[in-house]
Amino acid sequence: MNYKDKKFLESIINRNSKKNIRKNIYPLIEKAFSKTDICKGIEVLLSEQLTMSEITKEFEYEFARYIGANYALMVNSGSSANLLASFALVNPRKKNFLKRDSEFLIPVLCWSTSLWPLVQAGLKPKFVDVNVDDFNMDMDQFKKKLTSKTKAIMAVHVLGNSTRIEEVAKIAKSKNIFLIEDTCESLGAKYNNKYLGTFGDFGTYSFYYSHQMTSGEGGMIVCNSRKDYELIYSMRSHGWSRRLKIKDTSFSFINSGFNLRPLEISASIGLSQFKRLNSMINSRIKNREKIIKKLTNSVLWKNQFSFLKITQNVKPSYFGLPILINKKFLKKKKKFLKFLEKKGIETRRVIGGNFIKQPSVQLYNLNSKKEKFPEAQEIDDRGFFIGLHAEPITNRTLNYLEENLLRIDKL
Ligand SMILES: Cc1ncc(COP(=O)(O)O)c(C=O)c1O
Repeated sequence: MNYKDKKFLESIINRNSKKNIRKNIYPLIEKAFSKTDICKGIEVLLSEQLTMSEITKEFEYEFARYIGANYALMVNSGSSANLLASFALVNPRKKNFLKRDSEFLIPVLCWSTSLWPLVQAGLKPKFVDVNVDDFNMDMDQFKKKLTSKTKAIMAVHVLGNSTRIEEVAKIAKSKNIFLIEDTCESLGAKYNNKYLGTFGDFGTYSFYYSHQMTSGEGGMIVCNSRKDYELIYSMRSHGWSRRLKIKDTSFSFINSGFNLRPLEISASIGLSQFKRLNSMINSRIKNREKIIKKLTNSVLWKNQFSFLKITQNVKPSYFGLPILINKKFLKKKKKFLKFLEKKGIETRRVIGGNFIKQPSVQLYNLNSKKEKFPEAQEIDDRGFFIGLHAEPITNRTLNYLEENLLRIDKL
């Protein structure tokens, strides 16, 4: 793009951003795209190379290098990354692939597409409760539920924090159990200085709008084995052999597959954002500290809330600030969230809540034993989260959050 075009585009972007009067004073995410990100997307449009190409490859290469995995493959969403990982486990090209009805363990505080791809692949879930303190899988219950029938584990890292992944990975390795890490909510977080998503067979990431970084829609899947990479590479594109460094060069369909390819525009925006990932992570960590300090040091503070405790040995990476309402104010939760909405402070549920309660789980009768998960339920009852922005938070915003969040006892 030449200088004149760039100036012209920037003037349009500026005009549009002035027109976009935000209805939220404290939205989940603020200024998701920089001018450079938008120009990078437009450059691809102008090039007319919209389908996946060289920029996607470059992004994959840079992502794998950053995360410390041998291979990274971009897809059109985090859900698609989970779909590929799940269907890889049951694919006849995978060594020791799983038979129908094999059992997998999954924390009950999960996202819809952490669970369903594995079920769609023919596997049977066994749910594990989580800890109220850190929102992640309860290790005692995990070990109790792990039997000779367990053939796979879907570890879900919640809201920037981590499962006790080193221990989970050690157990999985010693028992030849497949391990997928759904890292869609924790891109850039580390356990013992190693990036989440790199402990198991596959790690998956989401670049959805409100996450640590975004490409609009998009996702990434990483792995270390060449064979796994070739498998997911082929399954991403119809199951064909095209561009795989294998003997067959004739566009054969060597496997079953999907079309989960990203657009080159998403890769271009994603790669542009990716260059700022570390600074956005650090900025969010600082903003979180400032908000918690502001609330807990306030004259209005009456222990209204508690906050997610970070798992030991974890360097977190947030996109939101999860909050648990103190039990004595619990009856006011509904009214409180409505009040925040009216004040322009956007909130969300903690992942899919206690997923066992979702109508889809009942539709497929996945909890025939009517098992209860009290800790996930408590998080669902007491929890919600607000955004954490990548730009440094201002004193004005801090005051606004203090004034409104701490009003719960007065409602
Ligand atoms: C834990 C988890 N897994 C998977 C996904 C799906 O990612 P995407 O929205 O990119 O499909 C999400 C989405 O927010 C998520 O929170």
